Amino acid sequence: MQILDGKKAAQSIRDELKIEVAQLNAEGKKIPHLAAILVGNNGASATYVAAKVKACEEVGFKSTLIHFEETTSETKLLDKIRELNTDPDIDGVLVQLPLPKHISDEEVINTIDPEKDVDGFHPVNVGNMVQGLPTFVPATPHGIMLLLEHFKIDTKGKHAVVVGRSNIVGRPMSILLSSNTNPGNCTVTICHSQTKNIKEFCLQADIIVAALGKPEFITADMVKEGAIVIDVGITRMEDAAKKSGFKLKGDVHYESVAPKCSWITPVPGGVGPMTIAALMKNTYRSCITKN
Ligand code: GUN
Repeated sequence: MQILDGKKAAQSIRDELKIEVAQLNAEGKKIPHLAAILVGNNGASATYVAAKVKACEEVGFKSTLIHFEETTSETKLLDKIRELNTDPDIDGVLVQLPLPKHISDEEVINTIDPEKDVDGFHPVNVGNMVQGLPTFVPATPHGIMLLLEHFKIDTKGKHAVVVGRSNIVGRPMSILLSSNTNPGNCTVTICHSQTKNIKEFCLQADIIVAALGKPEFITADMVKEGAIVIDVGITRMEDAAKKSGFKLKGDVHYESVAPKCSWITPVPGGVGPMTIAALMKNTYRSCITKN
């Protein structure tokens, strides 16, 4: 069994971006600038946004963090997005999800200028991705593709089973893995909460992408020998022994599944760092295509 080390792969992407930024600086060109909006006080969301800002610092991008209170109106949030859309110094606008219930995700996503939508959630970018056109690909599935590429995993003709159908991970992941690309070219099955026999599908999988948000859902009896397992889950579980008060659990029961795998992602240190590296790549792309 080998580890798909997301920390290592993400570091090499960030190192490449550092060189690109140094080049932009040397040529007196504009430096990428990401604006990240956080609404409310969800601890996990605050941690993710802080990690995105930190990654910007590390690669030499500019970043602006905008923090709204939980009770902020949708109008106020949409006005801020419109302001960032027209600000020529801003290359990427992201609004961390989930949002409080009184704010519509759809309104928010549709208001972001597709040319600054570095999360790749706007319908224009989703449409481009489905058609295989150059676009912003959502950061988590994009990061997973970069991880497979980094470790030279051959995916052609393999059967990939994606467990979970969210717009953020499962659906775009199924599109990317089935595309005529490398990595890609898989036969893809999507399983979800209404799938009757998830275990039978998973047992047929050469590649499993677990993205359903249920800690340790994928167990050893669901995985065939030699499978490649990608764990997108990252649930905070109370743990008094930890300084933070919680530990992170993936959607895969790592201890039992890992010995059966040819490759597996750890949690943490697998998909998480790759999501952020992919976001950095999208932000860089936005900056250089506009300037
Ligand atoms: N919430 C969970 N994943 C993501 C992501 O990739 N982007 C944003 N904006 N919010 C998220």
